[in-house]
Amino acid sequence: MKSLQIETASLTYPIFIGEGIRKNAVELLSSLNLPMTKILLITDDEVDKHYGEELFNLLHSHWSVKKVTVPSGEQAKSIDMFMKLQTEAIQFHLDRSSCMIALGGGVIGDLAGFVAATFMRGIDYLQFPTTLLAHDSAVGGKVAINHQLGKNLVGAFHQPKAVIYDTGCLATLPDKEMRSGLAEVIKHAFIHDEAFLKDLFTIDSIVKITTEQLNDMIYKGVSIKAAIVSQDEREEGIRAYLNFGHTLGHAVEAEYGYGEMTHGDAVALGMQFALFVSEQVLNCPLDRKHIKNWLKKLGFPVKLKREVSTESLVNRMMSDKKTRGGIIQFVLLDQIGSVSLHSFKAEEIERWLNVWRMEEIE
Ligand SMILES: NC(=O)c1ccc[n+]([C@@H]2O[C@H](COP(=O)([O-])OP(=O)(O)OC[C@H]3O[C@@H](n4cnc5c(N)ncnc54)[C@H](O)[C@@H]3O)[C@@H](O)[C@H]2O)c1
Repeated sequence: MKSLQIETASLTYPIFIGEGIRKNAVELLSSLNLPMTKILLITDDEVDKHYGEELFNLLHSHWSVKKVTVPSGEQAKSIDMFMKLQTEAIQFHLDRSSCMIALGGGVIGDLAGFVAATFMRGIDYLQFPTTLLAHDSAVGGKVAINHQLGKNLVGAFHQPKAVIYDTGCLATLPDKEMRSGLAEVIKHAFIHDEAFLKDLFTIDSIVKITTEQLNDMIYKGVSIKAAIVSQDEREEGIRAYLNFGHTLGHAVEAEYGYGEMTHGDAVALGMQFALFVSEQVLNCPLDRKHIKNWLKKLGFPVKLKREVSTESLVNRMMSDKKTRGGIIQFVLLDQIGSVSLHSFKAEEIERWLNVWRMEEIE
């Protein structure tokens, strides 16, 4: 087992990473010395099939626990599920010394984290991530639900007390979800670590990723994210760099309809567009064709659906959290490992998006 300390301005907490470590949940949780008068264990119905009962039984032998499941998928990050979980917490008589545990991917982490951030003005929560993407979502304390007008628009900063990342859980993760997580790994490499990106370029198939490669990706991805959030917990500066690929990515997710395309596939499209704009504005010297072919080989989308209009995507970007006074913020790449934040008028983005879409058709 490896462990890392995440140090933010508001809290320092451990992240434990290792194969099979969920079975040591009792020892790991006990070592945190949290009051845990009661535990609300929150998971989704898919994850529950594989790991829900097992974790419930382990915890139940030591603490008073209730397990609640929500439907699997992005739709669970809704106000209805948020209220359902608040009701469960009240009916199970959680108090301010109780805690919530998120067992699942980014959806469960974001949803359960936001419920914990708001129940009685905030109680402890812990994450047991089960997806590759969660190497990103479980670190840094951003928790949120979606509004029908935009993703993650209702949320908070609420750091978990610990993250227990059993990489063995990835054995049951479907390939498309593995690819979704890989997009965030690639993002971390683009913005921070050229050698890591070169290693990733050697992967040409999702199904051929070895356990060793997976563990390395998670450890490096978490380390990069941890280094950034420790300097800027509330996204007042460099944390915004983590949004590389997300300005268009979030617009695509919302415009296609949540759950239609995975978060990672949308981010992969967003990164390709961000690389195009980086080339136009900063003369970023990357071989975009090579990157596009590599992403395509891995199964990522490389073009937008024809029926989705450029105008509607730009409108979505205008209601993004990062947009200020009608000016759209974009994270661009100067070169691998070096990013910067740029502001553009909607018309400029619309023009570039149109040119980029023409290029896709060639
Ligand atoms: N808070 C943050 O900093 C942050 C960062 C990045 C992404 N996110 C959010 O994360 C979410 C996406 O997370 P995700 O990709 O993990 O999606 P997810 O939580 O929906 O999981 C993907 C699918 O895989 C299933 N699943 C999860 N673990 C499994 C396992 N081990 N075996 C079998 N099936 C399993 C789930 O039931 C679901 O159907 C988005 O809502 C995104 O906004 C948050």
